[in-house]
Amino acid sequence: MEPLDKHRQEDFVQQLFGSIAKRYDLLNAIFTLNQDTYWRNFATEKANVAAGHSVLDVCCGTGKLSIALAEKVGPNGRIIGLDFSENMLQQAKENIKKTSYKQTITLMQGNALYLPFADNSFDCATIGFGLRNVANIKRALSEMVRVIKPGGTVLSVELSKPSAPIIKQLYYLYFEHLLPLLGNLGFNKNQPYYNLPASLRTLPEHSVIQDLFIQVGLEQVNYYQLTGGIAAVHLGIK
Ligand SMILES: C[S@@+](CC[C@H](N)C(=O)[O-])C[C@H]1O[C@@H](n2cnc3c(N)ncnc32)[C@H](O)[C@@H]1O
Repeated sequence: MEPLDKHRQEDFVQQLFGSIAKRYDLLNAIFTLNQDTYWRNFATEKANVAAGHSVLDVCCGTGKLSIALAEKVGPNGRIIGLDFSENMLQQAKENIKKTSYKQTITLMQGNALYLPFADNSFDCATIGFGLRNVANIKRALSEMVRVIKPGGTVLSVELSKPSAPIIKQLYYLYFEHLLPLLGNLGFNKNQPYYNLPASLRTLPEHSVIQDLFIQVGLEQVNYYQLTGGIAAVHLGIK
């Protein structure tokens, strides 16, 4: 296994997602046993988003969370989906085309660590399954705080390490033993799912992410564990 720091090198991450963009949605559904949609919907419900709001969806990937948020903000709201992978954004464009939210969602290429927006621009900033991939989690969260208005919400939905004993054992059995067998289906060490078990092992605990939310200046910080703690939603108010 390569060390996580290496995985976090931005060009490496960018290239990895670029290489699987077309298959990302399918792979996600398979690997999470279709729970990813439920996790995004739960996050959307908790994001304090209402009609007319403006929301920044950082690390938007193929746009699934942006689309769920678009339903909440309605025709007078706006969603900006930002990602640094051109291929993931292209796939997002395809996904959005199939919805009625083409006017609501704008896609932008950019870096989560250097958001190209003025302070206090959005009502909410979300990051879906992105914290694990950014080179500096605290910096990404600080940027999200900077660009939301006072009273706005920062929310992350991310895979996570379960703490309940039986679920924990099943989880590592699945991710560390069953998932690598997919190597036989053509996943090699240059593709993101090969590295998933390592990146999950080194993912900060729920409480550490909660502390980071507090350190970047958020208040009323709270988190929810989903599907026995396999995923978690963290949120805080500016
Ligand atoms: C696991 S995908 C998540 C996609 C989507 N949010 C979802 O709900 O499925 C992570 C995404 O983060 C993007 N990413 C990672 N680091 C980034 C950064 N520093 N700036 C912008 N995008 C980044 C990758 O290109 C990839 O599309």
